[in-house]
Amino acid sequence: MKNIYSNIFSFNKKILFKTISNLKKGNVVGLPTETVYGLAGNAYSKKAIIKIYRLKKRPKINPLIVHYSNYQKASNDVIFNNNFFKLYKKFCPGPITFILNKQKKSKIHSFANANLKTIAVRFPKNNIIRSILKNIKFPLVMPSANLSSSISPINALDVAEEFKKKIKIIINGGNSKIGIESTVVDLTGKPKILRPGIIGPEILKKYVKLVVAKKKIKIKSPGMLKKHYSPGIPMILNQKYAKEKCAFITFGSKYKNIKNSFNLSKKADLKEAASNLYKIFRKIKKKGYKKIYVSKIPNYGPGIAINDRLIRASK
Ligand code: TXA
Ligand code: MG
Repeated sequence: MKNIYSNIFSFNKKILFKTISNLKKGNVVGLPTETVYGLAGNAYSKKAIIKIYRLKKRPKINPLIVHYSNYQKASNDVIFNNNFFKLYKKFCPGPITFILNKQKKSKIHSFANANLKTIAVRFPKNNIIRSILKNIKFPLVMPSANLSSSISPINALDVAEEFKKKIKIIINGGNSKIGIESTVVDLTGKPKILRPGIIGPEILKKYVKLVVAKKKIKIKSPGMLKKHYSPGIPMILNQKYAKEKCAFITFGSKYKNIKNSFNLSKKADLKEAASNLYKIFRKIKKKGYKKIYVSKIPNYGPGIAINDRLIRASK
């Protein structure tokens, strides 16, 4: 990766300690995870949380996800239940976030979870974020490292381009393997998916009884806002072809050698398609296209999450 930004660092012991000392002081840093890159801050620090909301221009009513290396570390912050343990055992560390009731004794600052009675917790798998989490005594709030409602970053350069020198440290962990945000599952009642992700309902159903989320959900969350994950260009979905000079996002082998087309996965692999989605959004934006057409994407497995992001991006 060409690095013209002096605030992007390779990961080593020295930068690990520097990152930790910055987090302790309430500073905000850009870190890799297996899903997307995050803007990390100390979840106990009001200063850090305010900084994150400001940097992202994120509405204060939209709660953040709190990250830990393991569930034991979250035991003073949330109330676990059987469904949590079933999913934790199977999928963690990994790309899944759980909404649980907050413990009264929790030290998580109420700004982090927008004063709600619940907290979103996640146990990421990426080695760099894990080695940081294992070496600190506080959890990290970490929304995706992008301006509110725009495209989530999948590498260090994306983060640097979004925030320039406003953050002092961005750790380069290469491209995020998964490339879209974690599945968010509400476990405070009957389990329901609030934000689809790479771990889809078909797999989750094997471990817990899922209910379908109603359209209007009481909790307001940015991932649930209509317009989100957007490249800021008009986008039309489920198209067979694109108009001239427009970008065409395609999927599968039948779309070959088409001008201005960007194939999510030539071999029609939905996981690969998910990992290419934001990369392609950014490419199209950089090339200056004025309109995006998108072919039909199968709506199962990771396809559910891809269609969710496409629908929100097209609003
Ligand atoms: O993959 C990910 O989850 C990434 C990486 C960096 O960990 N993080 C991420 O954070 O996507 P963010 O802030 O961009 O999205 C968090 C989602 C939002 O839709 C938010 O509303 C929801 O989680 N959320 C957080 N706390 C919640 C709560 N207490 N109740 C309901 N939804 C909540
Ligand atoms: Mg986000």
